[in-house]
Amino acid sequence: MARRKISLIGGGQIGGVLAQLAAQRELGDVVLFDIVEGLPQGKTLDIAEASPVDNFDVSVGGANDFTAIKGSDIVIITAGLPRKPGMSRDDLISTNAKIMQSVAEGIRDNAPDAFVLVISNPLDAMVTLCQRVTGFPSNRVIGMAGVLDSARFASFIAWELGVSVRDVNAMVLGGHGDTMVPIVRYANVNGIPVMEMLERKYNDPKKAKEVMAAIIKRTQNAGGEVVGLLKTGSAFYSPASSAICMAEAILRDQKRLLPACAMLHGEFGVDGYYIGVPCVLGAGGVERIVEFSLDAEEQALFDSSVAAVKELVDSMK
Ligand code: APR
Repeated sequence: MARRKISLIGGGQIGGVLAQLAAQRELGDVVLFDIVEGLPQGKTLDIAEASPVDNFDVSVGGANDFTAIKGSDIVIITAGLPRKPGMSRDDLISTNAKIMQSVAEGIRDNAPDAFVLVISNPLDAMVTLCQRVTGFPSNRVIGMAGVLDSARFASFIAWELGVSVRDVNAMVLGGHGDTMVPIVRYANVNGIPVMEMLERKYNDPKKAKEVMAAIIKRTQNAGGEVVGLLKTGSAFYSPASSAICMAEAILRDQKRLLPACAMLHGEFGVDGYYIGVPCVLGAGGVERIVEFSLDAEEQALFDSSVAAVKELVDSMK
């Protein structure tokens, strides 16, 4: 089989880590694109020079010209400004929408058969715009949010319970903002419900609920917590890892069931909007959206998250 090609649009903090991870895992040949001259060339030269040490054998190159992405199997977009302390993701919309418009046109014209993963914020709006501008079928244009938000949720659960992160299963659905919906009812440690473990740990159901409420709040604000510490930008290691996990699922046809920001066509009662839901990711991109019943409380949280996403997306029209 011919080698796969992965193009990364935006050679900043996330883009650099994406390039390194994609190369280390030999997902395919890597092109890093940025408008800043020298930046993608410098970063990829640096990464490529580690290849004899890390033992990966793919080509890794930088570009300032969109024609370099021709023939891409998958394109991952991080172009756009990151947050500064005090900003919400939604504050980025007008600047990043202009950037997304031009990036999506470049992808449409140069990589018309590619899958596209969007990371730029505000995520739900940027992935919507990308799909509209490219005109690609919605199974090929996907947003990365749920894998990251779920990883943060799972990390906090593991740390609280003193168990390996490997054994925690926890999913976050809805929009990629303050209204995201961690699904507590199904969060488990190798099948054992997290709430039961918390109740036994504290021997007090009320205290267990308070601890979970704090974990949920920390999950919803996890991006902001990192921004507050870094002061000059936003998280980049964990978003890059999360997107690579999704790209790998598609390129290697893994049929992973992962929360992803996908266009809904009636699933979960939503039509024509991108929302974070469980998806099967494989060689067809979003191959299936997996529905399951939400209880009344989860449904109410999901509905308000959908309402927030609709308001944000409709503000772009
Ligand atoms: N085409 C390509 N690249 C662009 C364009 C464009 N039109 N406009 C800006 N860029 C590049 C910048 O030159 C910069 O190198 O996008 C890169 C963004 O990198 P960072 O500022 O380091 O931001 P990063 O932390 O990588 O986050 C990127 O992802 O998670 C989101 O909120 C985050 O929207 C932000 C995006």
